[in-house]
Amino acid sequence: DWKMDSFVETTIAQIREKVGDGKVLLALSGGVDSSVAAALLARAIGKQLTCVFVDHGLLRKNEGDEVEAVFGPNGNFDLNFIRVNAQERYYSKLAGVTEPEAKRKIIGEEFIRVFEEEAKKIGAVDFLAQGTIYPDVIESGLGKSAVIKSHHNVGGLPDFVDFKEIIEPLRMLFKDEVRKAGLELGLPDNLVFRQPFPGPGLGIRIIGEVTAEKVRIVQDADYIYREELAKAGVDKNLGQYFAALTNMRSVGVMGDGRTYDYAIALRAVMTSDFMTADCAQIPWDVLTKVANRIVNEVKGVNRVMYDCTSKPPATIEFE
Ligand code: XMP
Repeated sequence: DWKMDSFVETTIAQIREKVGDGKVLLALSGGVDSSVAAALLARAIGKQLTCVFVDHGLLRKNEGDEVEAVFGPNGNFDLNFIRVNAQERYYSKLAGVTEPEAKRKIIGEEFIRVFEEEAKKIGAVDFLAQGTIYPDVIESGLGKSAVIKSHHNVGGLPDFVDFKEIIEPLRMLFKDEVRKAGLELGLPDNLVFRQPFPGPGLGIRIIGEVTAEKVRIVQDADYIYREELAKAGVDKNLGQYFAALTNMRSVGVMGDGRTYDYAIALRAVMTSDFMTADCAQIPWDVLTKVANRIVNEVKGVNRVMYDCTSKPPATIEFE
């Protein structure tokens, strides 16, 4: 793609000119935007860039390792990559907390604490980089009216990081252009075409209290669901699709025994803007295969349900 080709080249030149021999810090979430920003900066300034990736233990199965495989010491980029394994920290903060907004608040605040600690170790930097894209710029200018769910990963600069200037290399790009730039920079497809994933991660896909055990259950169920949808080729037209762990346990039967285990809810929606969404019609044979695999392979689950509500009145996520 010649247009992206020239965007990448021009932007690399601009970054080099702006940064000089300065130091840049980026919070890498593993999402498309921060990953493309990281790749672009790494190509431009190499080890002058430090990326901090906080694994909050609420990522999808294997996701932390996938991010590390791309950006870590054995990956394709030359940069300083710091992975913070903060799983236990998050789980202990979240213990006993059931209210969705309280969970969001804890996850958001803990991120700031962890990032702050890392930033202190690194010391003063010249630039703080962000993966802000054009729709974020527009959205923050409009101001939101009714807050249905608080999104802690947008807006608000970390005032505890000692930096001189912000650098936002993707500020003028739409999402599809960000993806093209990502491919141009050699990022893998699974990262570039990743579906949107909320900042609080699986924390809001586990209804009620979050525990390490519940994270394991929802990760394994979600992995099977994604694998089967991809295998059946029905993942392409979906806006978002995932498994959630309902907080409901019910009676089942396994062999000669009675079980009293959790129910997994599967969700898949089609949407253009995530403000409204239609429930997707997944082929029945695909759904039943997923259900069978989940109850057979994921310990602690004896029932699988499909959510066929639209947004509104339901939201896409369960919390
Ligand atoms: P809802 O559930 O409100 O989701 O219909 C709309 C879109 O927003 C995402 N979402 C979040 N993203 N932090 C985020 O970064 C959050 O707290 C959050 N809550 C929902 C959701 O995944 C969907 O794409």
